[in-house]
Amino acid sequence: MLPYGRQSIAESDVEAVAEVLRGDWLTTGPAVGRFEAELARWTGGVPCVSVTSGTAALHVAYVAAGVGAGDEVVTSPLTFVATAATAALLGARVRFADVRPDTGNLDPDAAAALVTARTRVITAVDYAGHPADYDELRQVAGEAGAVLVADAAHSIGSAYKDRPVGSLADLTTFSFFPTKTVTTAEGGAVAAADPALLRRAARFRNHGLVRSPPSSAIPARAAGTRRCTSSGSTTGCPTCCARSASASCAGWSASASGGPSWSSGTTRCCPACRG
Ligand SMILES: Cc1ncc(COP(=O)(O)O)c(C=O)c1O
Repeated sequence: MLPYGRQSIAESDVEAVAEVLRGDWLTTGPAVGRFEAELARWTGGVPCVSVTSGTAALHVAYVAAGVGAGDEVVTSPLTFVATAATAALLGARVRFADVRPDTGNLDPDAAAALVTARTRVITAVDYAGHPADYDELRQVAGEAGAVLVADAAHSIGSAYKDRPVGSLADLTTFSFFPTKTVTTAEGGAVAAADPALLRRAARFRNHGLVRSPPSSAIPARAAGTRRCTSSGSTTGCPTCCARSASASCAGWSASASGGPSWSSGTTRCCPACRG
């Protein structure tokens, strides 16, 4: 019988988690920043904010994109329910466009046919690790004045036309659930090249809190003056999860021929999806 999922946990992962448990920061500590820096190596340098799950990542991404009541989100029906449910949670109307028969990914023409003046976001899903048609979807989103989101829960480490997943959409979401390529048990992340989108995502994941004076050297919840500048939720990544994933990423880099490289092929799947 096929197992639901089977993760490979190395002794170095166990030791990395134990190291965090012996330290002061169980959540949102310095290991989280290190994990996010490690993730950015896989997105071609696009910065990431880590969160508690792929579902939280989608929620945070939609908030960063400004999704609200009355907006429409066009996406694929061939996905996990979270892709649509998190948009509906914000009051958006979800419109399902058909997928391409060869990849199972959102069909750009079908997405374009559903665009209206209310379309705020188009969300592609990289089904089974295969990146969607981002150049075409970028054009559809641009013409619609919509934000392009990539639900890359399955595809960290994949590439499209030699460009890494994480650099292809305005906002990209990852999941680190045990059935995914890299796991933190529960976990996720949002990648965005646009500093304004990234800032909105980072603020929302931690109740909209802003530290005064700002300091990137201090973990997010260190003592100091903090102001609540917008609504938000607690979706920050636990430090022990981040630490174990950093260790896993390092091991994965080593097994994936010495680390990230996007120079071959046109569309390439992540190491875990390759046969
Ligand atoms: C395509 C897709 N998006 C989002 C998610 C949600 O991720 P998580 O389980 O980490 O909340 C999943 C998880 O199965 C998924 O497959």
